[in-house]
Formats: sequence, C-alpha cells, structure tokens
Amino acid sequence: MTALTLSTAAASGLRADAIVVGVAKGAASKSGGLVVAPGAEAVDKAYDGKLAAVLETLGASGGEGEVTKLPAPSGFKAPVVLAVGLGPVPEKDETYDAEALRRAAGVAARTLAGAKKAAFALPVEDSGDAGAIAEGALLGAYSFDAYKESAQDGKAPLAEIALLGAKPRDKAFKAAVERALAVTEELNRARDLVNTPPNDLTPEAFAAVASAAAKEHGIKVQVLDEKALVKGGFGGILGVGAGSEAPPRLVKLSYTSSKADKHLAFVGKGITYDSGGISLKPAGHNETMKCDMAGAAAVFAAVVAAARLGLKVNVTGWLALAENMPSGSATRPGDVLRMYSGKTVEVLNTDAEGRLVLADAIAKASEETPDAIVDVATLTGAMMLALGNRTFGIMANDDAFRTSIHEVAEEVGEPSWPMPLPSDLRKGMDSATADIANMGERMGGGLVAGLFLQEFVGEGITWAHLDIAGPAFNEGGASGYTPKGGTGSAVRTLVRLAERTADGDLG
Ligand code: BES
Ligand code: MN
Ligand code: ZN
Repeated sequence: MTALTLSTAAASGLRADAIVVGVAKGAASKSGGLVVAPGAEAVDKAYDGKLAAVLETLGASGGEGEVTKLPAPSGFKAPVVLAVGLGPVPEKDETYDAEALRRAAGVAARTLAGAKKAAFALPVEDSGDAGAIAEGALLGAYSFDAYKESAQDGKAPLAEIALLGAKPRDKAFKAAVERALAVTEELNRARDLVNTPPNDLTPEAFAAVASAAAKEHGIKVQVLDEKALVKGGFGGILGVGAGSEAPPRLVKLSYTSSKADKHLAFVGKGITYDSGGISLKPAGHNETMKCDMAGAAAVFAAVVAAARLGLKVNVTGWLALAENMPSGSATRPGDVLRMYSGKTVEVLNTDAEGRLVLADAIAKASEETPDAIVDVATLTGAMMLALGNRTFGIMANDDAFRTSIHEVAEEVGEPSWPMPLPSDLRKGMDSATADIANMGERMGGGLVAGLFLQEFVGEGITWAHLDIAGPAFNEGGASGYTPKGGTGSAVRTLVRLAERTADGDLG
C-alpha cells in the first residue's frame, strides 16, 4: 500500500515526481476566474504569482475531478506540478469541505500511478483536513492487480506521499493520519476481497482471511463450519449453501475494549457468488455477482479498523458466508427452511438468498442483546432502481437510529438515504405452508427485504439495515477516490458509527 508521511519540507526542495496543488472555481460574482487554493502559496510564488493565469491558459477551470499537469517552476526539485480541481471556492469564512479534499486527493493519487513519490500541497486548515486528504489519497491510489501479469497499464500505484502544510509533531495531526492509514488499509482490503474472483474466494477462504486478520489484531474469532451450522440449526445459511461444492461458514469476530460501555453488532451478507441458485440469473445479471459478499467485507474491515483504533466500544462482526449455486443438492423453490430463530421460511425464489443468510446471523447476533445491530448487504436490485449506483438505502426499526446513521454516512462522504418499512408490504410474504415466504410484492422489493429481516431481530433490539447493492461495486469508470470494481461501501460509515458510539454521541 501507498506510504504517507506528514512533512514540513518546502515544496521547492522536495525530491519527488510531482507536487500536487489545489485549484478552485472562483465565485461567479468575482472575475469568475480560477483560484489557487491555500497550501500552494510557495508554488504560486515560484511562478511569479501567475499559476492561476497559466492554468487558465491551459484550459483549467478548477472544476471537481479536473487535473492539469505543467512543468514545475525553475529551482524546483520535482519536475511536474499537478493541479487538481476542488470545485467551487468556499463561501466567505468557510474552508474546503472534507469531501472536496478527499475527492481531489483521490484523483491526484490515481493520476500519479506509476510515480514513486508525490508531495501534496493542498489546503490544510486543521487536523481534520489532513485526515481527509490522507484518506482520499490512500483510497484513490488503490488498484487491484493481483491477477495481472503486470500492474494496471503497467503502472504500479503511487508509492509514497508527503503531505505538506500539516504539523507532524501535533498530536491531533498524527492521530488523524494514523486513523486514515488504519481505515483505508482495511477498506482497501475489503475492496480486494470483493474483487477477488469467486473461484478463489470461497466461504472457507474468506473465513481464513478473516481469522488471520483477527488474530493479528487481537480480535476473538469463531468460525462455524458446515457441521457446526447443522448442529446449531442454521437452516437459512445451510439452505443457501446447499447447492455449492464450497460449504458455508458463519464467522464471528469479537473486538472488546475494557473501557467499553456499549456494544454494537455488525452483520454482513457474504454470498461469495450469487448465481441465483435454481432460480438462476440470466446472462447479463451474473457477471458481477462476486460482489455479493461486499456487506461481509465491509463488516470485516470495520471490526478490524475498530480494533486497530482501539475504540472504547465492543464491536461484534458476523459474516454470513455461502455460495448460491444450482445443483442436485440445491434448495428448490418450494422448499421450506427451518431457520436458526425457529421460524420456517418457504423459499419461493432461491435468488432471494441474502435475506436467508442474514436472518440466521441477525437472530444469532440478537442473543447477545447488543445496543444495536446494523446489517450491511448487497440485497436487492430494487434498491438500485430506487437510489441508483452511488447511494445506499437505510431502513431501521427506530427513526432516531436511522437518522443517526444517515448523518454519520453524510459526515464521512458516503451518499445514503432513509427508506421506510411500510407494514402493509408484510402480507405479500404470507405463505400457505410456512411462517413467512422469502419473497413478496415486486413493487418496493428493497423494503420487502427489509421487512423480512426485521422479523429476525431480537425483541427490543435497535436495528438498521443498509442495502448497498448500488454503491458496493462500480461498473463505471473511477471517480474521486472511488475505483472501478469493489468500492468498500459502508466501511467508513460503520467505523464512524463505532467511533461516535464510543464517544457517547449516539443515544
Ligand atoms: N445479490 C442480489 C441483489 C443484487 C443485484 C446486488 C444486483 C447487486 C447487484 C440479490 O440476492 C437478489 O438476487 N435479489 C433479488 C431478489 C428478488 C428475487 C426478490 C432481486 O433484487 O432481484
Ligand atoms: Mn440473489
Ligand atoms: Zn444476492
């Protein structure tokens, strides 16, 4: 992974491949021109104060995501200045917002793939800004090359970043950068897991990765294999995994802090490949279904990050891992499963498998009566139709908790939106044979899935469900700090939720 250090060096003397500066779009009321953002004063001075003018001649506008390269001024050790657009200049008395800094840093780091070292001279007002730039840069530098003979386009990720304008000896700055390093390293690992092809990332392989990481970071780990799942009565997880040669797993990760007085449980959908099962998905709908374990990857990353940050909150992660395949041993549409909770479910569509594995894990997680359960899942195509490819839906059995999660997501730069759980949709899941069917009305399919899960939440436990089907996997081009493929959706929201719970900021 890319290394990052805080530096007090002057931009001119730094031995680097490039100096990154920020540029912004001036307010329309002014000349409308390009503005060089704070942090780049020394660079601008070396161009005789004409950096903005030069960049404008080159066609730069300061718009978000824009990059312009130009030769560094004479006397600089670095050969190139890379100007990255920050979007509009902040209002009077305001500073660049964290998300603008994250995105610009991400774009710069990605553009500099192939380079050894870059110095970032972006606007840093406080430690929060340094953290945001570090986070954006380390996420933007990511690329997944494990299955290629040589790195993407022959360019290895940017190896080293010096963050200028920060205070390397200041406690808050150090902490902000350490936090960014821990969170991004775990988030990038979640991306790796999502990108790993499903012939390699079986439930067993995923459980092994989780076990190794947990041991490394002092997290207690327990893996239930197929025998233990039978013994425990996990009919949902077993039913979904029944058609696969690769048996299912339920992984429990327990991070505990001696200073905790709250306990969060995170539950992740971990379908390592979703073929649809006997209700097979048609071609055109199954090519990216290795991403169906993105919820479990996010939960895994968040628990490890919480441990690395030493948060004063107990966090239990549950990874419900199975492969959904058709075969002679697969669950059929019409089969009834006896779930861990004791409820029976008539499986009407084997492609509605996520809710089955989650239901067992949620029921199991409920036994410890955590203060809240949050499940994360690439659960429904319906949520993608509703909210698009970048926004996840939040459902909950508690209005205040749903609002809190929405705010936390907003704070970390993850687009999300609150969704309802209309009780009239419950009757669509009535089954003639079992307690409930795994499918209901087509309209509002994302909410139907949420209502199904709600039935498996323990009495009186606060619960929220994040449907990340849209943002988990980016089939389009990279943008900001978001790469193609696995994105690490929901990791930063979960980590921030744990931090705020530890700080007592949430109920
Ligand atoms: N994993 C899919 C949902 C999904 C679709 C995630 C596209 C990411 C991209 C899920 O298991 C599924 O197949 N859901 C069905 C449910 C339906 C059969 C009730 C769906 O949304 O079509
Ligand atoms: Mn499915
Ligand atoms: Zn699925």
